[in-house]
Amino acid sequence: MTPETSAATEAPAAGFDVKTLSGSFGAEVRGLDLSNLDKDRFEQAYQLMVEHKVVVFRDQHFDLDSYEAFAGRWGRIHKHPFMRGMDSHPGILEIVKTETDRRAFGNAWHSDQMFNPKPAKFTMLYAREVPDRGGDTMFANMSAAYESLSDGMKTMLETLRGWNVGSREKLRAASTVPSNSRPPAGMQEEIPPEEQQTEASHPLVRTHQDSGDKTLYFGGHTMHIDGMTPTESAPILRYLQSVVTRPEFQCRVEWEVDSLTMWDNRCVQHYAIDDYAGQRRRMHRITIAGDEIPV
Ligand code: OGA
Ligand code: MN
Repeated sequence: MTPETSAATEAPAAGFDVKTLSGSFGAEVRGLDLSNLDKDRFEQAYQLMVEHKVVVFRDQHFDLDSYEAFAGRWGRIHKHPFMRGMDSHPGILEIVKTETDRRAFGNAWHSDQMFNPKPAKFTMLYAREVPDRGGDTMFANMSAAYESLSDGMKTMLETLRGWNVGSREKLRAASTVPSNSRPPAGMQEEIPPEEQQTEASHPLVRTHQDSGDKTLYFGGHTMHIDGMTPTESAPILRYLQSVVTRPEFQCRVEWEVDSLTMWDNRCVQHYAIDDYAGQRRRMHRITIAGDEIPV
């Protein structure tokens, strides 16, 4: 990070305002027009992401073309293997919950596309319609959770890998919870049953490519620990999940129309709160493909 960018992340320098969302992580930025970032400003925005892991940029004005163009600056736009993008803009997924829809997409703790050998780097959601109240998104800081563990636990985890699975049926079959309930966690809504091929092993502790920090790395797609049965893995994964989702390691984004929230899937889990029955919520989502195999 250059001295200039580090100064700019301390509000209210450099013409835009940064407010932290919790003691642990997350930031809200006002006064930065993402559609019009020169090279230095883009670098500052990237450093905001590395520093805060989740950033909600308020009052953004994109059309579909300029939104895709902005996203392309962060890396390759991920084409979801299972979900259809918009007809005119296949890189943009429209995430809609209508007044009559019963279930909300992403309503469980997860990190996006962990079942991919090179899992998603960033996801951005751009709010087009939001409920009068409710429909917030929660985030959990897996790096802070890792840091809080004992040296003994850290050492044990060092050698372990998670087996991550896209298939809802496989996750359910491996689950130790009753078959009529949902999988313990996961973005199962994202994956239609007919499209369930993708599986990948990733270290349970990975080193973040940009910050160099170690972070836990698992989520709702983690079916078991490599070399262990799901039954043997479940208590360990459940314990780690209880650490990750401690209130101390969470932050919460309250949406406004025209807010764009980005999060770093490499070190953050997220959860869409389904508390707005009878109301509409519509988001435009773009995911930035990962460019590394986690190590
Ligand atoms: C997602 C997701 C959360 C939300 O788009 O990957 O989980 O709050 N969305 O809509
Ligand atoms: Mn998600």
